[in-house]
Amino acid sequence: MRLSRDELKNLMKTKMMRAGLSEEHAEQTAEILTWSHERGYASHGAVRVEYYSERIAKGGITTNPNFTWKETGPCSGIFDGDNGVGYVVAVEGMKKAIEMAKKNGVAVVGMSNMSHSGSIGYYAEMAAKQDLAAITFCQSDPMAVPYGGTEPYYGTNPISFAVPTADERVVVFDMATTVQAWGKILDKRSAGASIPADWAVDDKGLPVTDPHKVNALVPIAGAKGYGLMMMVDIFSGVLLGVPFGKHVSSMYHDLSEGRRLGQMHIVIDPERFIGLDAFKKSMSQVCDELGAMPAAEGYGKVYYPGERALMRRDKAYASGGIEVVDEIVDYLRSDAIHFNRYDHKNRFAD
Ligand code: NAI
Repeated sequence: MRLSRDELKNLMKTKMMRAGLSEEHAEQTAEILTWSHERGYASHGAVRVEYYSERIAKGGITTNPNFTWKETGPCSGIFDGDNGVGYVVAVEGMKKAIEMAKKNGVAVVGMSNMSHSGSIGYYAEMAAKQDLAAITFCQSDPMAVPYGGTEPYYGTNPISFAVPTADERVVVFDMATTVQAWGKILDKRSAGASIPADWAVDDKGLPVTDPHKVNALVPIAGAKGYGLMMMVDIFSGVLLGVPFGKHVSSMYHDLSEGRRLGQMHIVIDPERFIGLDAFKKSMSQVCDELGAMPAAEGYGKVYYPGERALMRRDKAYASGGIEVVDEIVDYLRSDAIHFNRYDHKNRFAD
């Protein structure tokens, strides 16, 4: 079913407020979920609201958090989220990083003790819209084998960067460091289909095509992706003093406890390097040159990262709104807060 932006956002906001979140935090969270869903990342949109509502209702997301900010140097600081809703913690951390980078040229801001923060491209884009270059990455629950391993050790640990151009374009790259998200395995299970052999492994660490036999996801590009997911965990976990590696809390285990996740924003003022105007001009040139390159057969065009997400958003609105699965809309419109579906120990459950 198609919903307007306002309707989808308000339904999600209202549900999370009913679960116990403050209006301010529900508004911010719903805005980012909508940002993600309208760009075609349905996996990080409305489908998450029931899980968040269950965690909020059970006390695993602090509804009235005591945020603390510790400036540890002219270009560094730690924002402690007191296990508040991750979206708000990541936004507040980015606001600090933007302020610091504008003042001192560079900001490295860690966020500790937070909950899931969804599509992290949103936070990098916040900085790019303020004429800054940004990188952000965060931990997520262990689901991927290290290269050559048999057990999940790292999460799908996403990486995003965003930069401005001299025109309206903003380059926003945003990816998980696993070949596929867990949601894609679930889709195949429910469709009774097999999965490609390079998506996941069984309990012996060997490739599987039966989605029911998946024991762990695999890093992108083998050992190289393994190194990237390790980098994310070091910078947003080990460095910040929160649980790391296989000790990172599971999304679906004990929803009454805070998740204690970490995230890191690195923000740079181009003015301190080539100069802002020159940087933006060069970035426009990069996008122009890429877009003008003849595409390989079957590809249509070479896109800059984030371009297709905006095309999906524009197409959705031109076709009458954001497509949301009927079942999810029914839940959002119902009086139910949650159906007790997410509190279990099996990260690979349906
Ligand atoms: P994806 O595979 O759809 O896209 C990855 C990147 O590749 C994007 O920046 C996209 O712009 C770019 N891209 C894709 N196709 C392209 C093309 N044809 N030309 C040019 N660029 C192209 O994204 P993925 O890995 O499935 O991640 C989805 C979302 O999940 C992201 O928003 C990510 O932040 C989020 N996520 C969040 C986690 C968390 O714990 N908070 C964990 C894992 C993912």
